[in-house]
Amino acid sequence: MCGIVAYTGCKEAYPILIKGLKRLEYRGYDSAGVSIIQGGELATYKQRGSVDQLDEFCMTQNVTGHTGIGHTRWATHGEPSSTNAHPHLSADGRIAIIHNGIIENYLPLRKELTQRGYVFHSETDTEVLVHLIDDIHKNEQCDLAEAVRIALTNVVGAYALAIISADEPDQIILAKKGSPLLIGVGKDEYFIGSDGSPIVEYTRKVVYLEDGDVAVVNPHKKLEIKNINDNVKKRPYLQKLELNLEQLEKGGFEHFMLKEIFEQPRAIKDSMRGRLNVKKDIVALGGIIEYEQKMLNARRFIIVACGTSWHAGIVGEYLFENLVRIPVEVEYASEFRYRNPLIYEDDVVIAISQSGETADTIAAIELAKSKGATVIGICNVVSSTISRITQAGSYTHAGPEIGVASTKAFTAQVTVLALMALSLARKKGTLPLSEYHRIISCLELIPKQVEETLKLNDQIKEIAKFFVNKRNAIYLGRGVNYPVALEGALKLKEISYIHAEGYPAAEMKHGPIALIDEEMPVVVLATEQDTYEKTVSNIQEVISRKGKIISIVTKGDTLVKGMSDFCIEIPETIELLTPLLSSIPLQLLAYHVAVLRGCNVDKPRNLAKSVSVE
Ligand code: M6R
Repeated sequence: MCGIVAYTGCKEAYPILIKGLKRLEYRGYDSAGVSIIQGGELATYKQRGSVDQLDEFCMTQNVTGHTGIGHTRWATHGEPSSTNAHPHLSADGRIAIIHNGIIENYLPLRKELTQRGYVFHSETDTEVLVHLIDDIHKNEQCDLAEAVRIALTNVVGAYALAIISADEPDQIILAKKGSPLLIGVGKDEYFIGSDGSPIVEYTRKVVYLEDGDVAVVNPHKKLEIKNINDNVKKRPYLQKLELNLEQLEKGGFEHFMLKEIFEQPRAIKDSMRGRLNVKKDIVALGGIIEYEQKMLNARRFIIVACGTSWHAGIVGEYLFENLVRIPVEVEYASEFRYRNPLIYEDDVVIAISQSGETADTIAAIELAKSKGATVIGICNVVSSTISRITQAGSYTHAGPEIGVASTKAFTAQVTVLALMALSLARKKGTLPLSEYHRIISCLELIPKQVEETLKLNDQIKEIAKFFVNKRNAIYLGRGVNYPVALEGALKLKEISYIHAEGYPAAEMKHGPIALIDEEMPVVVLATEQDTYEKTVSNIQEVISRKGKIISIVTKGDTLVKGMSDFCIEIPETIELLTPLLSSIPLQLLAYHVAVLRGCNVDKPRNLAKSVSVE
């Protein structure tokens, strides 16, 4: 949460900062601000609201200068307001700081600094940092970079920081622990971002800061990185930024979410590229080859994730238990971390994350590693924290996902989980060759079938009208489509603000059925073959109570279709792979309902794309 951008060099800083902030807005969008060194002074502009609003205001000012920092905020401490917006300034207005993360011990620090005469203007945890740094800088007679380093040895929490001072007009000080930060290295200039999107059009040479790093960038000097705790210098490790500028644009679609839904045939194909060869009966994931034996001998798999990635994890549970026959537990990363779980050295933990920066998932990985378990990552963002702290892993290759509601990341995660399960099952001998061949042949067809499913867009747009004035909705699914019901409900609530719940269909009679009346839309996933009759009975139970049925069925189904108020027919595949198709109409439904309700689809209220706080 929160996006950080910074620049120092010979170009005008403001256009680079504002463009970068627009790209990073998915990380938080309740307020934004910039500080630029202008004629030996700091000029700071900040506003409640979007980056566009900040830009509109700055356009009326004469903003100029070659070194600056910019921030887009997702509020943790203190409501969204211009006072709580970053940057925050030292008392004399000569030091400015931006921060992504949470300072956990900010209250005692604030108390101490207040007693020493510092006056706080905001309710944020960040403001303590600027006063603490200023205090050390003045009293310890050290340079600003050293003051930052010393200050951070007193700080508990997570941070990515960028700090500038009017007294060092070409310099930016950076520090990282727990939140992402990378430095783009140009010719006599530096570009800084929370991810590569503000950097990619200027340079592809980047240094990913690591936890515990403090860095000083100055176009006239060599990049300097030290360890915060032991003050030892490190050699910067230059890497190539793998990001495509076109992927960051909407490409003619009204919203990123719609673009990303329609990208799924390509995203799923890319997840399989080079990993699936049906003619040769090969499924191979290069990234985990070294750990395959460990996985085959695992006592159990523990999947840790949050939100949509957690739903993909439950689909993974069905895939792994059915195909590999090794027990699987799926845990909310946040719960796993704090419940003192039993973790054994022969457990294999699979961490799933689109962003690779989710703080809860990172904490769960650290815990699992500390207990000696093997940790495998499934991430979308290349070189993200999770992809770097896991022992091995597979990228989903879905491409950048900008819409806050996750769509293509989900289907790409499920694809990678299916490939992983298939490859392990074949080696473990738990799947006869004929069955293995049948499943991989179906998997290969999925991108085409997703394309076909996307043609239902207009029909789903019509169905969306039925939801516009509803206050609640229920999503039901069984087996591998139970997590799809959860995912469909999450999509609807997060972008249209209609309260929605997902349930295993059979659980309805244990409580939720009390909610059914003529006002209640019930979305039923009725594609599974094994429990089809049972689902039909569940639908009858809803109809008897006058609930409205919106069903997702396999093409050619007549029974459920005949019982439904609205029916969406998707192509046929084997049951275990249906989530790759059945999730698509639910994404489209949520999208169109949100658009009809006039909601901000790509930036729903109170949310951020990357949840880098616990
Ligand atoms: O980046 P991650 O996959 O780790 O993110 C996990 C969740 O925060 C994320 O899936 C969230 O639930 C989305 N808004 C769902 O659409």
